[in-house]
Amino acid sequence: MAQCQAAERVTAAHDQLTWHPVWQTPVTMDHMMDEPGEQPWSKLKSTIYSAIFRNPKSTKVTLATVTLAADDRVLDIGCGPGAAVRQIAGRVASATGVDASPSMISIARKRASHLTNVEFSVRPAERLTFKDGAFSVVWTIQSWHHWNDPEAAYRQVLRVLAPGGRFFVVEKETDGDHGITQTEAAALAAKLTNAGYSDTGFSKVDKMIIVSGVAG
Ligand SMILES: C[S@@+](CC[C@H](N)C(=O)[O-])C[C@H]1O[C@@H](n2cnc3c(N)ncnc32)[C@H](O)[C@@H]1O
Repeated sequence: MAQCQAAERVTAAHDQLTWHPVWQTPVTMDHMMDEPGEQPWSKLKSTIYSAIFRNPKSTKVTLATVTLAADDRVLDIGCGPGAAVRQIAGRVASATGVDASPSMISIARKRASHLTNVEFSVRPAERLTFKDGAFSVVWTIQSWHHWNDPEAAYRQVLRVLAPGGRFFVVEKETDGDHGITQTEAAALAAKLTNAGYSDTGFSKVDKMIIVSGVAG
């Protein structure tokens, strides 16, 4: 009974949201977002986010844009409830999700409990602690703009990527808040070059911006 009432409350809250015509996200979403430097997402915020964003547009764009092979080992940084990780599990050798929020990882693990080549752990982008060269693809979807120390994260990603491995930062294009501007995307690509990535650049896909670089 209590569960039904809770579900009804979530549904009612969902219905009352004003939905952005392009992003298919609530226009009030910004009020749920942490500012850079704040604590990891709380249990409440993680629960609300995961109830509303079961398959965000940013995930769809990422999966439609990044080509994957059966032997790819993929890391999703700031995976949240794990929608992208679950969807690629059947197409790659392994899919790993990390997030700074224990609450998000708890939800991601529950939702992926039926999958065998999937792992989740609580780790911030800045301290990945995986073995050198452990992954062939690393992406981060609408998480980059929260990172406390992006430069440290770029070094970590470069270390955990195998030579030739690909890194993608996926953000919605914004005028500066909770996303990325084209100017910031160009600056990020330059920072990746300075950090030691090759073939850096960015592209616009369906109102999202994808910044990318290759290890080595
Ligand atoms: C807007 S949610 C996006 C979640 C998921 N990628 C998606 O597209 O549904 C942002 C996520 O980034 C995580 N996050 C914020 N800062 C982080 C950091 N420094 N390292 C790893 N995850 C971080 C948050 O805990 C949150 O789960």
